[in-house]
Amino acid sequence: MEAADTRVSNEQWLEEVYQKLLVKMKKECERIGTMIPYSTRDGKYHDLDVPGGIYFWTNGFWPGMLWQMYEATGDEAYRKAAEGAEERLSETLQGFDKLDHDVGFLFLLSAVADYRKTNNMESRRRGLHAANLLAGRYNLAGRFIRAWNDEVGAMIAKGRNMSGGMIIDCLMNIPLLYWASEETGDPRFAQIAINHAKTAQQYIVREDGSCNHIVIFNSETGEFVDNPGGQGYEKGSSWSRGQSWAVYGFALSYRHTRDESFLNTAKRCAHYCISNMAVSDWLPLVDYRAPEEPVKYDSTAGMITACGLLELAEHVGEHEKKLYIKAAFNILRACDEKFSNWDPEQDSIVDGGTFFYHDPDGKNTEVPIIYGDYYFIEAILRLKGKALFAW
Ligand code: GLY
Repeated sequence: MEAADTRVSNEQWLEEVYQKLLVKMKKECERIGTMIPYSTRDGKYHDLDVPGGIYFWTNGFWPGMLWQMYEATGDEAYRKAAEGAEERLSETLQGFDKLDHDVGFLFLLSAVADYRKTNNMESRRRGLHAANLLAGRYNLAGRFIRAWNDEVGAMIAKGRNMSGGMIIDCLMNIPLLYWASEETGDPRFAQIAINHAKTAQQYIVREDGSCNHIVIFNSETGEFVDNPGGQGYEKGSSWSRGQSWAVYGFALSYRHTRDESFLNTAKRCAHYCISNMAVSDWLPLVDYRAPEEPVKYDSTAGMITACGLLELAEHVGEHEKKLYIKAAFNILRACDEKFSNWDPEQDSIVDGGTFFYHDPDGKNTEVPIIYGDYYFIEAILRLKGKALFAW
């Protein structure tokens, strides 16, 4: 017989977590201000402690957290810190050749969030500048946005030439293009986003809702070449963060285009994630198709999946949405119980983030990662009806 669930209701858990979030984020904002953090050492964040310095793909998540907290509380300290971090990030637009497809993560959560909240026209210009850089990476023959620059691409795709490479992650960058079209009235940005999402549907998502991480095309002719392995266990496996980018990314493409095929692809990927997480106590493994041992988790995949499920819930009927909301609660609660650190004197909330499956020294396995915190906060605020729509 199954043991009775003695835990508090989802509503009570949500309220308790929200109250803890208010306390912890207030303290973090005082300590971190306009620094741009990634992970912690000895419970403390450090400024730009990342390989690419100011250009690293995760640098928008801290300002994103601050804008979310500003939306929820109206506390001016969050706005001031977010504006300072954005000012620093905007330097990257001058050294744009070091930026890549991840300008969406960098600028949607900083400049575009700022513009959405304050109507700051300098922030709007930054967002549109970044959208133009992203559009400039479009490959006309293959109808996709090129991933990474040579060095990083070759490192993750194990020496492959990535000039013809696209990755599932980029679905979360293309909302910058949808925004640019909505903002300017020029359809070219959205046309690129739609073509990229259609190519991802065809070459990245498998029939069962699992995903490849990478696809390589011939960059001259656009012909399909291969789906090599990437940050997951192996070629043909199912990297959980990639799966989560698919759920949220296709749901967002549906929001922006109303193309039903994107909604159905998002659902297919969501059902695949839900069934896999249901058999691991709602804790996301790094790869859903890896050996049972060693057990390796990636809490960030859980947080992103939860946000994607909550996005999906907004686009389906009343009797369908409970599946997605209930699954999102299950994931958030399981990860909170196993990975959260609510000590207000220590930085970062969600431990247990893993950058990639094959991590030679373990330094990037089950550690706090800033985007785990960003998506956790977004999910909690979505459930409280207090989130800023950032995508
Ligand atoms: N977008 C890079 C990653 O998910 O690791």
